[in-house]
Amino acid sequence: MKKFFRIMASTVLAASMLAGCGSSGAAATTESPKPAESAAAATAEAATESTDGDLSTKKVGVCIYQFSDNFMTLFRNELESYLVSLGFSKDNITIVDGANDQGTQTNQITNFLTQGVDVLIVNPVNSSSAATLTDMVVDAGVPLVYINREPDADEEARWADNNWDVTYVGCDARQSGTMQGEIIVDLGLEKVDLNGNGKVDYVMIEGDPENVDAQYRTEFSVKALTDAGWEVNELDDQVGMWQQEQGQALVANALAAHPETEVVFCNNDAMALGAKQAIDAAGRTVGEDIFLVGVDALTEALELVANGGMTGTVFNDHLSQSHSAADAAVNYLTGAGNEHYIGCDYVKATKDNVADIQALLG
Ligand code: BGC
Repeated sequence: MKKFFRIMASTVLAASMLAGCGSSGAAATTESPKPAESAAAATAEAATESTDGDLSTKKVGVCIYQFSDNFMTLFRNELESYLVSLGFSKDNITIVDGANDQGTQTNQITNFLTQGVDVLIVNPVNSSSAATLTDMVVDAGVPLVYINREPDADEEARWADNNWDVTYVGCDARQSGTMQGEIIVDLGLEKVDLNGNGKVDYVMIEGDPENVDAQYRTEFSVKALTDAGWEVNELDDQVGMWQQEQGQALVANALAAHPETEVVFCNNDAMALGAKQAIDAAGRTVGEDIFLVGVDALTEALELVANGGMTGTVFNDHLSQSHSAADAAVNYLTGAGNEHYIGCDYVKATKDNVADIQALLG
């Protein structure tokens, strides 16, 4: 029951915040993502009622690209507890660490298929390997739910064309990038253009460039500034592979080389936490002489947003995504089936609404 109310709270919060924010630029470019808690959740609820006893015997294999990833740790923990709340047995849920190596993950999938699983949930190491993974899993007659790292359009088209039991659950990263940029735009150019050169002098810290989340966040965060009519000046653009330590080292270098930096965009919060360490070490103060945004709404990042240590972040709703992934798995097991794309909305998190998001995450 508690979970049910959290889902409702999440949906209501997202809806009210999005309404409050107005429609973001990315929303227009999104191919009508479905609210994650709508169709899939409704069918899964009906399905669980009719198969309640059965789920406890169903075997679920879960492949995570890398256990040490902060965001995917939140995601997988919630996924496991939600699967259990739906009636799966904890003993029948096996979650494995791909250690950021596609070869390792491909072997793990082979092992799952050999040992026998009823459904697979996969966070691919390389989204570009999805076609190979899909072929293996479909050939074995096992339904497949991809999460977090979206395969490309050609791959998704194959699922629909062949009517395969394969879907993707995730958010549109363009929206998160746009929201990062909008958080900066909302401050006003006068405040952000600290050196008064008429441009926003920024540093970009990217996640794994193979990942569409990194590509789109990099592009759309800056696009939100130029869409607002602002001029931008990229001082540095580095790859931090989603990792805090790399974010810290890269931003330390960037600030030393470019003391005129006004904004640091990080593709995720882990790297933003590293950036914050570097900003502190450089004797700079967020909100006064530099601005910093991330994505995910990790607990530590929300604390920083609340006390002004980060300008803002974007809530990457792991609750909604993990629940939708589990619901989609149930829908395959019961024969209800799924759409081939199950979306979810991001939510901006700034000082104004951070308490609501903290309350939601408990
Ligand atoms: C998250 C990152 C995470 C990545 C893993 C992204 O959606 O924002 O924090 O490292 O997914 O694929």
